[in-house]
Amino acid sequence: MKPPVKIKSPFILSLLLISFLFSCSQPRQGNILLTDGWKFQPGDNPSFSSPLFNDSSWEDISPLDLWDAQGHADLDGYAWYRIHVNIPSSLKTHAYFKDSLIIFLGKIDDRDQTWLNGKPLGQNGKTVSAGTKFPDDIPNGGETWAVSRKYMLAADDLRINWDGENVIAIRVFDRGGLGGMYGPAPYISMRDVGDYVTFNLRKEPFMISRQVNYKKIIVLNNASTKDDFDGVLSVEVINQENDRVIFSETTTTHLKAGKALRHSISFINVDTANCLLQCSFKPEKSKNIITANVGAPYILTPPPPASPRINGPRVYGTRPGHPFLYRIPVTGERPVSIDVKGLPEGLKIDDNTGIITGKILRKGDYPVRITARNAAGTDTATLLIRAGNTLALTPPMGWNSWNVWGLSVDADKVKAAADAFLSTGLADHGWSYINIDDGWEAPHRTPDGAITGNEKFPDFKDLSGYVHSKGLKLGIYSSPGPYTCGGYLGSYQHEFQDAKTWAGWGIDYIKYDWCSYGKIAKDNSLEELQKPYLLMRKALDTVNRDIVYSLCQYGMGHVWEWGATVGGNLWRTTGDITDTWNSMSGIGFRQNTASPYASPGHWNDPDMLVVGWVGWGPHIRPTRLTPDEQYTHISLWSLLSAPLLIGCDLTRMDDFTMSLLTNDEVLAVDQDPLGKQADKVYVKGNIQYWTKPLADGSWAAGIFNLGEGKEKINVMFSDLKLKGNSYEVRDLWRQKNLGTFHKGMELKIPSHGVVLLKITRGV
Ligand code: GLA
Repeated sequence: MKPPVKIKSPFILSLLLISFLFSCSQPRQGNILLTDGWKFQPGDNPSFSSPLFNDSSWEDISPLDLWDAQGHADLDGYAWYRIHVNIPSSLKTHAYFKDSLIIFLGKIDDRDQTWLNGKPLGQNGKTVSAGTKFPDDIPNGGETWAVSRKYMLAADDLRINWDGENVIAIRVFDRGGLGGMYGPAPYISMRDVGDYVTFNLRKEPFMISRQVNYKKIIVLNNASTKDDFDGVLSVEVINQENDRVIFSETTTTHLKAGKALRHSISFINVDTANCLLQCSFKPEKSKNIITANVGAPYILTPPPPASPRINGPRVYGTRPGHPFLYRIPVTGERPVSIDVKGLPEGLKIDDNTGIITGKILRKGDYPVRITARNAAGTDTATLLIRAGNTLALTPPMGWNSWNVWGLSVDADKVKAAADAFLSTGLADHGWSYINIDDGWEAPHRTPDGAITGNEKFPDFKDLSGYVHSKGLKLGIYSSPGPYTCGGYLGSYQHEFQDAKTWAGWGIDYIKYDWCSYGKIAKDNSLEELQKPYLLMRKALDTVNRDIVYSLCQYGMGHVWEWGATVGGNLWRTTGDITDTWNSMSGIGFRQNTASPYASPGHWNDPDMLVVGWVGWGPHIRPTRLTPDEQYTHISLWSLLSAPLLIGCDLTRMDDFTMSLLTNDEVLAVDQDPLGKQADKVYVKGNIQYWTKPLADGSWAAGIFNLGEGKEKINVMFSDLKLKGNSYEVRDLWRQKNLGTFHKGMELKIPSHGVVLLKITRGV
């Protein structure tokens, strides 16, 4: 269905920035690079398109960076770029195709008209004929800022001045925000195989089984409608730590016009290290080699033992008198029997499922002794059930529909996610919330003002019954404004009614997203920022249900300083995350400001996880984060005591993604009952140390390498701000003791990677 109103979401804005940061690619060999010599002039004048115009007084500018980064931060509207370039006919001599010239101008934010020697060449990335009359205003045509400007002309086109000076003039219109030309580097070349043939190494993820057997399908597309290409396809997998070649293969290949070649490789990799898959296609009769590479995942998490292991938090908050639901997460070979001692009055457990239900009548702390048994052994643990005022005594762990399905979420997808929590075993590691984000709301309220689900969500009671029957919880989403960020109905002026409706449906978690409330708020004062959140808090307090309250307003007014006082259990500290290194690391490594404000029941939320298959809509793809970036993501979020909300398709889990989300020692850092958030205690160049005190008196420490190359470093305990001399150190991803160390230790950290440690005072 079409949402009634479209509100520009912070998600779109962050994508805009990210695509700018990530759009660098290699220019082609042996061509004319157009990185230098550009002239720039704000304003607009038709004479600027003429080759005769004298632009020598214009300022110099780089086409690789937006104009905002080059002294024009406040420039919106029109501006012009010009360059003078000689195009030698020798370009044609070695060309694969001698019939056409390419003029590639990178990307332009956000619209353009381009002239070659005074004649129209292209508009917003579409080549036009020489006789075209450009409209006065450059047409918008959608997301024109993201489109590559690649113009193709017949070699005998009269607009080209072979062996002489050519003037390219670009009229740019920026409607607001960032503007101008930006990478990849512009160039001029003859048409080549590389204009049609590209690798897609992300289409099919690596499949790993038993930690060492790797399989991957390499996809090589030929977008030409006419030409087949022959060439040599080479594939290598190289251990980045010691340069060992793990796999190498060369094959001659025939690429059919308009077809994608799918080439399967499989190999054994026992290195458990950062490895790179490098691919190249060398076309016959062309100098240009088409290359691409992608990191190969490696699994550090050992498989859980056959004997039972009780996972999940060691403390759990509820409010007396409210329905109680908790599924004890236990791994180990089935059948496992679960026995509990000390359950407070009003609660009961189902021994087969380990699901505790009921209602606690009185406030109090109830330590519950859990014993899990199977044929291979026994495990025991104490869970403190705290019946009081505070929920989410450890950060919520679950799934949210947004990063994968965006507005295309529906009830079946939500049920499938709940099923997958059990079938994959994720629930046995403590994952429990199934949260519906935007896109569930009907376009109109009922005559009595009640909100209902749209046709994708016909029956919320049925849905919550389904989710609860598995011992899982159900979350929902709304906005304090009249509309959500996706343009669906919000809760404005219906707050109490909506809270009651959700409670009636059996909702356990509400994400409350500012969005269109911006139009209601009088100003940006703290009072106005807090008002809608206080109101929904009041409304939630009137219902007879434990509903975790998640504030989402992107960090406005330093929400971490007051999120707890308006009754939030968690609050987003940033704009929307996306699956790139710049987005994830930019958000994660900035969280230290908010660190002092995290405590049990009150969490900073740096946004949801971007591992696995994501997509923000119906078309999903494997995350663009490299394997080491994914280790960094999960390690950092655990150190930050961040809510962990998986944002991928749970029905499409590969072993690597599962290994990231089921390492109980890593998850225990996030769920530690002390509830402190890690601090950034040391920064040197690209190296950062983050440490977090744990309830048992030990420390979790993340040693991160944000740089582009691997690093070997001597980590001194004093730099970790630890006072002792001698510490026992455990590698949490490998779940392996590294030994006792004095003063410090040497560690190797891959690019964009991490070593996550537990450090305990030596005896
Ligand atoms: C905003 C939020 C996202 C998501 C969308 C839904 O962008 O920050 O997390 O909830 O709205 O429209």
